[in-house]
Amino acid sequence: MYSYTEFDDKFLAERNAQFRAQVERRIDGSLTEDEFKPLRLMNGLYLQLHAYMLRVAIPYGTLNSAQMDQLAYIAERWDKGYGHFTTRQNIQYNWPELRDVPDMLDALAEVKLHAIQTSGNTIRNVTADHFAGAAADEVADPRPVAELIRQWSTDHPEFQFLPRKFKVAVTGAAADRAVIKAHDIGLRIVERDGQQGFEVIVGGGLGRTPMIGKVLYDFVSADDLLPTLEAIVSVYNVLGRRDNKYKARIKITVHENGIEDIRARVDAQYALIRSQFTGVDQQMLSRIEADFAAPEFKTASLAAYESAYTNDPVFRAWADTNLAEHRAPGYAIVSISLKAHGATPGDATADQMRVMADLARRFGHDELRISHEQNVILPHVHRSDLPELHAALKEAKLATANIGLISDIIACPGMDYCALATARSIPIAQEIATRFDELKLEHDVGPLKIKISGCINACGHHHVGHIGILGLDRAGVENYQITLGGDGTENASIGERAGPGFSAEEIIPAIERLVLGYLDLRNDPSETFLQAYRRLGLAPFKAALYPETASKDQANAA
Ligand code: HEM
Ligand code: SF4
Repeated sequence: MYSYTEFDDKFLAERNAQFRAQVERRIDGSLTEDEFKPLRLMNGLYLQLHAYMLRVAIPYGTLNSAQMDQLAYIAERWDKGYGHFTTRQNIQYNWPELRDVPDMLDALAEVKLHAIQTSGNTIRNVTADHFAGAAADEVADPRPVAELIRQWSTDHPEFQFLPRKFKVAVTGAAADRAVIKAHDIGLRIVERDGQQGFEVIVGGGLGRTPMIGKVLYDFVSADDLLPTLEAIVSVYNVLGRRDNKYKARIKITVHENGIEDIRARVDAQYALIRSQFTGVDQQMLSRIEADFAAPEFKTASLAAYESAYTNDPVFRAWADTNLAEHRAPGYAIVSISLKAHGATPGDATADQMRVMADLARRFGHDELRISHEQNVILPHVHRSDLPELHAALKEAKLATANIGLISDIIACPGMDYCALATARSIPIAQEIATRFDELKLEHDVGPLKIKISGCINACGHHHVGHIGILGLDRAGVENYQITLGGDGTENASIGERAGPGFSAEEIIPAIERLVLGYLDLRNDPSETFLQAYRRLGLAPFKAALYPETASKDQANAA
């Protein structure tokens, strides 16, 4: 894990002192809300439907136990006892009082966390594969380079007022667990002729105009990465549209100019600035890499694990869904579900955060990760510790065995918190999860990703959900539009709209029909929803969703 230098500590302390003075001036009335707005947004403070909201960055999703404990403390002391983990590896506090925010930021700084560049038209929190450093299929740990990019981009003087926000995601594995193709820049560590370098993808994004990113370069060496990124962002800074907020993201710049034109411009800019990168970045990178050395893995007997797996069906069900392959023998990656059936996706109480911190300390080499799917990961747990870990998770209501299944839903806060929402998302997620729990079909249905957004901004990633749900406002009534076949992995695709939307009352039965339809359509239980969709296309799924229209069509054809 990256250890802060004296410079980092001083930088945060000064920044917090500056913001404290700004907050005081807002409270005593010498700043209006309009004057205060750009200042608060530079420090991750939004004004939401009911209250301020503070968005804290969790760089590349990595936390240690002390940091998680502090997030719990902040939730309890200054919020309502819980926090919301988001799809960008941030945590959001929904109820802070303005006067408390400087203290919250100081408490974060104590554990080297902050809210800088979690808002505004800057390079946002750099995200990464949540299995980084642990996954069996990894070429290299993406976090050192994500940290380098964070240091390069934080308060970068040229990139504080980009045309729009800018998001970078990095993965070090062939399997994409960081949705790199739906980011402004997606980076994948690849190997060529024994050398590690980067595939660079640009112009992906969701929101109003969803797009899958395009390959700008298939191989950039480690030495050339920062100058290349600097060239890309500079080109975007000049060329990106500032006349229309909805056309401002780099995906539109790439779309309007074409990838060849963008490549030529980036090449030219790169040639201009390359000499400024004298190798200091590479020295920094090797220092950072040392901070991310893998922990010392132990060897231990697997007897306890094997016995629990054979004799305890609850443990077995959990192990089958919530564990992933680790690179070290005897180890597993544990995903802790924040999606208990009927719970708010991504929310954790202060007590739950403390339990997870404690378990990471006892069994997990002091490491936790936040996933873009709004769950928490313990990346390094020896299998011999899993029965004890599972028992502790059960007690804290954190042992739901549903990772990757229908109730492991991503949902944005929607109308329950968000000022931009056009519909609710949380209750829809809760009702779908509860319904499928009642039906006891979850495990039969198998891998299925449902993603829900409360408006077109797509914070809930609905476009890349196998089933995407978009909440809209139709003449004052909530209406839910379904997209099908989206995928946020290395085979990324944007979902297709299935047809007319459903009311809040109709949406749960509609999802049920759709999923039951899939059970009838699949070749056999090993064919997932997405595979069946890709084999059969929209029509049979549409027929399951809109049975009346389908039977009318049949009658007309007869
Ligand atoms: C409650 C306060 C929030 C506000 C005001 C907000 C606002 C927005 C807006 C305006 C966009 C569209 C930006 C654009 O297209 O340029 C956006 C995108 C996004 N937001 Fe949020 N959001 C909020 C909460 C969240 C939460 C809780 C999450 C995670 C669950 C999230 C994750 C994202 C993601 C991943 C995108 C990316 C879509 C893209 O690729 O363009 N946001 N948000
Ligand atoms: S998708 Fe819309 S409703 Fe949901 S958090 Fe984003 S801006 Fe708010």
